[in-house]
Amino acid sequence: DWTMEEFIGKEIARIREICGSKGRVIGAVSGGVDSTVAAKLMHEAIGDRFHAIMVDNGVLRMNEAKQVHEMLNKNLGVNLTVVDASDMFLSRLQGVEDPEQKRKIIGNTFINVFEEEAAKLEAIAEKEEAEGTEKKGKIEWLLQGTLYPDVIESISFKGPSATIKTHHNVGGLLADMKLKLIEPLRELFKDEVRALGRLLSIPAPLVQRHPFPGPGLAIRILGPITREQVKILQHADSIYIEEIRAANLYDQISQAFAVLLPVRAVGVMGDKRTYEQVIALRAVKTEDFMTADWFVFPPEVLRRISSRITNEVEGINRVTYDISSKPPGTVEWL
Ligand code: XMP
Repeated sequence: DWTMEEFIGKEIARIREICGSKGRVIGAVSGGVDSTVAAKLMHEAIGDRFHAIMVDNGVLRMNEAKQVHEMLNKNLGVNLTVVDASDMFLSRLQGVEDPEQKRKIIGNTFINVFEEEAAKLEAIAEKEEAEGTEKKGKIEWLLQGTLYPDVIESISFKGPSATIKTHHNVGGLLADMKLKLIEPLRELFKDEVRALGRLLSIPAPLVQRHPFPGPGLAIRILGPITREQVKILQHADSIYIEEIRAANLYDQISQAFAVLLPVRAVGVMGDKRTYEQVIALRAVKTEDFMTADWFVFPPEVLRRISSRITNEVEGINRVTYDISSKPPGTVEWL
């Protein structure tokens, strides 16, 4: 039996012991709960010897890179670099429709960008070493925000989500870099990570945030991915989430997001016919994401969301609500 306060103290001491007095630690942050909590814990333990890297892959939610920078760097004091690699990601994704191919491209490009950032840091460390001004040392560790369920899944590798879709939270990255792993959350469940986040003064909206997939909006744009399509989806999705929050429903929903369909539908605006795209809204309630039920919205909330999206998002003239459960549907459309 242990309390979360004790866990923090013990874990910080453990990290300090592992990391000694020199050597840098790098870790990717996404803006999600796990990587934010892990990053804050590392910062508490070893300060600026921990370098957080956020990769903007061009398929994040609206203003996400900016918000993560604001939160992690300005508010929590974490040493963070945001890398805008959106051109590289979007050009590699051009014309790709197969969802597994999208996941592979995003996973591999992420590793390329992350390794490039690590190489830049390593070059700085080597230069400092040569000049005799070195303070933090070379990169020796890689932080991963792995949770207990990820550890189990990567060992047994039997869950339907693991076999049906490729998840890349564990492994991969390490092969080339030969870094030692630090996984401060590997014994915790999601609820415990949230409690830990609250104790580390991470703001409640972030601690309660719905999960967001690594491949981001790329698996929510069903047709070709272009900057224009990303913008349309970001805008619709931000209105959707804003209205869910305004209606005080966010915490009752496990995950909510918008999907951009690659079809055009006929509509009318003034005395003109329109021929524009369709947004599908998804909101589910689930315990473990293996099965899920669609969320029952009060009709007036759906009405308001639909009217705002069709009025405010250029290129959309129709909104549908997804009433499929999992199974047979999945949470994501791709
Ligand atoms: P599905 O669509 O499999 O989604 O019912 C279950 C949960 O997994 C998330 N998901 C992913 N997360 N990379 C991720 O990091 C992925 O490729 C991926 N695919 C699905 C999904 O958002 C939901 O929370």
